[in-house]
Amino acid sequence: MTTAPEQVLVPADPAFAANPYPAYAIAREQAAVFRQPGDHLAYLTRFADVHAAFRDRRLGSSFLHRFTAEEMGLAPNIPTWRDPRWTDFQAFERWELLNLEPPVHTRLRRLVLEAFTPRAVEALRPGIASLARTLLEPSREAGSVELVGSYAQHFSLAIICDLIGVAPSDRETIKELSDATITMYEPHPTDEQQAAANKAAGDFRRYLLDVVAHRRAHPGEDMMTALLDATVDGERLSDDQVVSTAMVLLMAGHEATVNATSNGIAALAAHPDQWQLLRRGEVTVKAAIEETLRYDPPLQWFERWVLDEGVEIEGVPLAQGSRVALVLGGANRDPRKYADPDRFDIRREDAGHMAFGGGIHFCIGAPLARMEMETTLTELLDTEEDLVVLPGAERSPMFQFRGYRRLEVALHRR
Ligand code: HEM
Repeated sequence: MTTAPEQVLVPADPAFAANPYPAYAIAREQAAVFRQPGDHLAYLTRFADVHAAFRDRRLGSSFLHRFTAEEMGLAPNIPTWRDPRWTDFQAFERWELLNLEPPVHTRLRRLVLEAFTPRAVEALRPGIASLARTLLEPSREAGSVELVGSYAQHFSLAIICDLIGVAPSDRETIKELSDATITMYEPHPTDEQQAAANKAAGDFRRYLLDVVAHRRAHPGEDMMTALLDATVDGERLSDDQVVSTAMVLLMAGHEATVNATSNGIAALAAHPDQWQLLRRGEVTVKAAIEETLRYDPPLQWFERWVLDEGVEIEGVPLAQGSRVALVLGGANRDPRKYADPDRFDIRREDAGHMAFGGGIHFCIGAPLARMEMETTLTELLDTEEDLVVLPGAERSPMFQFRGYRRLEVALHRR
């Protein structure tokens, strides 16, 4: 492995964030394990390597189940929310599923998984379909819908808030807290952004602790009540565990789905021939959704710690305590896996993509996200002969959470 002569993957550069795929291709062809100057990360961009890394137990989302930071000998240039100033964020991450490793992760995940089995999610379909119709009805009268702020955010937020047991009047608060908290996951958040994310994480926790107290006194049919009732190996979850679990579900439960919806609809609108295949019923809505998730995934990369000594990937040694980035957007466009990978083609039969990750942290919400996206696409297909994006579309400047800030499409009455 040689280090590239200059930075190729630069999340802070708006031009890179606007379309990272050409840069991923450079990294992918240069080396299986790509390094660039001034950057602590080793990047994996090939499908087979990302697929294997998600399942590699020598790599961990966290190291705290095995080592302290001192034992890991963390290099000083590794940016981390473990900064002593961000205690509220750390309190959230302490029990956050994505940041846990077995055996604690296994137990907590099993509990959550029960609510998200394909069968449990299928039971939600009629309610979700009716919600989509209701939300879109005024826009059908108006002749267009701004898909992000006026539709998808309300849609996904309502669904996940109802599942968790958050009052409808608090949905807007959840959205604001979530938007501010997730900034911590951008590759290089500024001090100001981190301080705001830390504050939001604290407010979010305190808000959910109130919900916990309320649900304890007034049990409901929701997931918060179920988590409070659940026992793992004879023990109840602590309030902190319940709060972190609810918090990650509330955030993951809408941020990625909203972005995936806008990325997918934008891709379909930019490829009218593909829209016509769908209109004629030559390709299923399900297949089209999978291609949109492959082509432009809403989450671009996830990082892992190298936990063991002597780890090599594709013959390249990776030091214990270093960080690896699993680049989903790069894997999804790997020509070793997909023929003509930059072509958006809903007839693809090369099943499988990396948008939902893999291994023990594979996305719990995948069945729900898929159903939400299918529902929205079915609604649009019902009336739109051509899928037309109106002027003013704007991508979000965020990198890790890739989507649109604004995307308005024409929408007709039934
Ligand atoms: C299109 C929408 C979505 C995409 C692309 C997506 C993607 C992902 C990815 C890539 C991971 C793995 C991250 C890693 O390995 O570090 C993940 C994990 C997770 N996702 Fe999603 N997600 C989506 C929607 C949702 C929804 C709707 C929910 C909840 C209802 C959800 C809940 C979670 C949770 C709880 C985890 C952590 C699982 C664990 O650590 O065991 N996601 N998601």
